[in-house]
Amino acid sequence: MDIVIIGSGNVASVLGRKFKTGGHRILQVVSRNASAASKLAYEWDTESTNYISLINKNAEVYIIAVADDAIGDIASELAIPAKKIVAHTAAAVSKDILRKVSSHYGVFYPLQSLRKEMTLLPDIPIFFDGNDEKTTKTLEQLAHSIAREKVLRADDDSRLKLHVAAVIVSNFTNHLYSLAEEYCRKEGLDFKQLLPLIEETALRIKDISPQQAQTGPAIRHDKETLEKHLQLLKNYPQLKNIYLLLTESIQQNK
Ligand SMILES: NC(=O)c1ccc[n+]([C@@H]2O[C@H](COP(=O)([O-])OP(=O)(O)OC[C@H]3O[C@@H](n4cnc5c(N)ncnc54)[C@H](OP(=O)(O)O)[C@@H]3O)[C@@H](O)[C@H]2O)c1
Repeated sequence: MDIVIIGSGNVASVLGRKFKTGGHRILQVVSRNASAASKLAYEWDTESTNYISLINKNAEVYIIAVADDAIGDIASELAIPAKKIVAHTAAAVSKDILRKVSSHYGVFYPLQSLRKEMTLLPDIPIFFDGNDEKTTKTLEQLAHSIAREKVLRADDDSRLKLHVAAVIVSNFTNHLYSLAEEYCRKEGLDFKQLLPLIEETALRIKDISPQQAQTGPAIRHDKETLEKHLQLLKNYPQLKNIYLLLTESIQQNK
């Protein structure tokens, strides 16, 4: 397919690479960030612009990969022929935000944590939706070309619900890593020594449910150990609060 990508951040970069690998042609990168757009255009041997009014009108699909709060503004400025397919990449934004842009609109949501620096591209499940059959079919086809079997249709409600779960398992977990890394640094420990544990904990839940997989002092109600940990954390009030909250949650979730 011939595709125009609007945006030049994490999702624009990774989806663009996936599209190229999937054999699609990127006609143009459109972004207010002229230097990021021209860097991507160079990588994909295509053109770029930072003027949305100069958008290429010949693509089959227009992918809007900008910050959630900017999708509405982009939609109000975007002038493409009415029959073109336009989709944004946000889980938490309704597809209807694009209803005035074209008669064919939808969503192309990659359920993965994406960073523009990625060159080794991970598996990216795609959750798509469209306002009509043509849009839905085309976005599904595009999704299959980059994600093979991990492609599912998801309406606005299910995407939003999925997003909450995604934030918990990915962003919150990563925040805990970040706090633990800072704690390790201050205590003269090497955070990297925890990597085998992190890997094992993540891999285990492929086979058993996270609830079954839970170990540690909280689930065992090892009161003395819990006390010692809290004592050690008295100089880390933020971490101590989270420790208490999660300990209580683990003990309630039996
Ligand atoms: N990253 C992920 O893991 C992920 C996964 C799934 C879905 N998504 C969704 O994909 C979308 C893009 O996320 P991202 O991670 O790629 O974000 P990002 O890396 O922060 O990039 C955002 C892009 O939007 C542009 N932008 C921001 N505000 C703008 C405005 N007011 N007007 C015009 N352009 C604006 C930015 O331009 P500047 O460079 O000039 O700021 C940049 O090109 C979001 O809807 C997000 O919810 C993200």
